[in-house]
Amino acid sequence: MEWKKGNRRIVLLVGPFAIKIARVRLIKYLATIRQNWTRAENLKNFLRLVKKDLCYPIDTDGGFKHLIFRGLLANLREFAYFVLKRCPNMMPIYFSLLGFVNIQRSGLPCDLDYRTLWFDHIQGKLQDDGIESPVRRFGHHFSNSENFCFDSKGRLRMVDYGDPETVWLLQKYPDLLEPFHKPSD
Ligand SMILES: Nc1ncnc2c1ncn2[C@@H]1O[C@H](COP(=O)(O)OP(=O)(O)OP(=O)(O)O)[C@@H](O)[C@H]1O
Ligand SMILES: [Mg+2]
Repeated sequence: MEWKKGNRRIVLLVGPFAIKIARVRLIKYLATIRQNWTRAENLKNFLRLVKKDLCYPIDTDGGFKHLIFRGLLANLREFAYFVLKRCPNMMPIYFSLLGFVNIQRSGLPCDLDYRTLWFDHIQGKLQDDGIESPVRRFGHHFSNSENFCFDSKGRLRMVDYGDPETVWLLQKYPDLLEPFHKPSD
């Protein structure tokens, strides 16, 4: 049994399963409320700051939606993408409990470095194919080797694909991770 920590999910690895628990950063949000209370000079200002915080989009760092719902959304999207698209380079998901917990097939850590996987292979391929802004659109997820694992047959699979751009790329190139398969003995 092993624990892993991402920004949006805490992952418990138990045998063939990766149990991905959505992080709800309530304490961090309460700290933001406290900070707003200190900053505001009166109740009216405080309520204005709280309301502003509630309205930030989910991608705004430190906002209410970002801190509370990002993990849930990642789990829900990942499950929906797997069920609807079933790309061969996605690590399969067996079950989702309303996004609070996902159960995914577990894999072995990917030992490929940033240069080999992202810079030389993926980014190189996208540039050759004339795909626009590869670093901005795909760099965040694809340049981090921790978002990939090898399955029991030595095939490289993506384990963190809870966003639309990532899935777009996985679908466009179903054999993207093929060159990294480890031949099984
Ligand atoms: N199916 C899996 N098998 C083995 N390890 C996994 C699996 N899924 C996730 N992990 C490990 O747990 C870590 C966190 O998982 P994941 O990347 O899915 O979470 P996240 O919070 O969305 O990540 P980020 O920090 O990129 O937002 C991964 O970096 C990886 O090391
Ligand atoms: Mg990740």
